[in-house]
Amino acid sequence: MINSSSKSVTRDPDVTMRRILKVNHAGEFGAIRIYGAQILVARRLFPDIVPALEEMRRDEIDHCRLFREAMPARSATVVSWHSGASAVLCSAS
Ligand SMILES: [Fe+2]
Repeated sequence: MINSSSKSVTRDPDVTMRRILKVNHAGEFGAIRIYGAQILVARRLFPDIVPALEEMRRDEIDHCRLFREAMPARSATVVSWHSGASAVLCSAS
């Protein structure tokens, strides 16, 4: 929180943790989608790397699940524009 009168910054550890969780969760969510797109292209152009990409995508799904599971205890909420998709993607296997 920025105090406009003094221009000093006050850091609340709980707020910082919530923000970190939200950003990290969004990053994992994005990584899942990036790998998904890369897998689609690689199936046509570079099929030999598809298994490695699929393994990396599975890792991101697990990371996403871990961040999502850590969020409620810290009152962090999933960014609304992808909350439904996140629930599906982060629990996909
Ligand atoms: Fe990750």
